[in-house]
Amino acid sequence: MKHYNLGFLGFGNVGRALARLLVAKSTELRERYEIEWSITGVATRGMGWRARREGFQASSLLGNSVDASSRPALSTGINEWLRGARPDVVFETTSLNHETGQPAIDYLTAVLKFGSHAITANKGAVVYGYDELSKLASAAGKSFFFESTVLDSAPVFSLFRETLPAVKLRAFSGIFNSTSNVIIETMEAGRSFDEGVKMAQELGITETDPAHDVDGWDATVKVCALAKVLMRLPLKPSDVRREGIRSLGTQKLQAARIDGKPYKLVARATLSDNGSSLNASVKPEQLASTDPLGNVRGTSLAVHFELDMMPGLTITSHRPSLHSTAYGLLADFINAASG
Ligand SMILES: NC(=O)c1ccc[n+]([C@@H]2O[C@H](COP(=O)([O-])OP(=O)(O)OC[C@H]3O[C@@H](n4cnc5c(N)ncnc54)[C@H](OP(=O)(O)O)[C@@H]3O)[C@@H](O)[C@H]2O)c1
Repeated sequence: MKHYNLGFLGFGNVGRALARLLVAKSTELRERYEIEWSITGVATRGMGWRARREGFQASSLLGNSVDASSRPALSTGINEWLRGARPDVVFETTSLNHETGQPAIDYLTAVLKFGSHAITANKGAVVYGYDELSKLASAAGKSFFFESTVLDSAPVFSLFRETLPAVKLRAFSGIFNSTSNVIIETMEAGRSFDEGVKMAQELGITETDPAHDVDGWDATVKVCALAKVLMRLPLKPSDVRREGIRSLGTQKLQAARIDGKPYKLVARATLSDNGSSLNASVKPEQLASTDPLGNVRGTSLAVHFELDMMPGLTITSHRPSLHSTAYGLLADFINAASG
């Protein structure tokens, strides 16, 4: 049996869902994987940097009351927090910064330098920090995993890493932003854009700032993360032609749905003929039901890959929830622990 100290950097929708999942799966983790765990560090902007070597009660953290016996928040930031919490694994789930990936990259750098596994749901860190963080992880003999960053829990990065050696990815398309899908479908049903945003927020699926979803940033950053990791091409969000869903009115959406070609926010990236660059876009498109992405509804997400060895490989995650996103982080944890 191995005991893991866990650190949570960010404790919002995703961090909390992961804490609940760890509690729900603790017997399975112990009996099947010989993993025991305790949460020894939690940090958010509101809560500050909290560390407790003997572990926090997950129920107190989830109930918003850090135990009375916990020490006051530390003041000097991540390095002191790491020394206090001594985590074996840190789950980084702070808000997306689509322009720089910070401060998540600095946090993950400190985590790997400290000697912990670094697991993130934050795609900004992958787009802007993948090379550096991967090098640090490999030098430290630790894992830098990020399965939840695209398509929540559905295997994308681990699928390529573990099961698709020597393939060349030529193009991909996807429906990567469930908030936009939920808003579009709410408007097709005759309700307003704002009601759609509210519905997505109630599901806990929006970015901290929902403008990142509706203006296409979330999907754009996911395109860049896939390009960087699966195609080894450094695509930046500003390289992607981006158009969000704000200009789609209710009547236009309803007419398209009646026509059998509803609008979706579609992300695309295609390799140039010489393979050195990508043509990438995120924009509303009308899709027929015969399109591999045509039947992706509600909170569902999908990606369609075009590979030299397979003309089409589509992965659809039907109605994933926060629970699913948390599962991506849990799967990364088990994979990191298994070496
Ligand atoms: N929600 C989803 O369905 C989903 C799915 C896949 C990936 N993700 C990614 O997962 C991450 C978290 O999403 P979420 O829905 O959990 O967001 P959230 O509910 O807004 O939570 C973000 C958490 O990070 C903390 N935080 C933000 N900036 C910080 C900073 N500079 N230093 C320390 N803590 C900071 C926040 O603390 P305060 O509340 O105190 O500010 C909060 O605890 C994002 O990167 C998102 O892109 C989300």
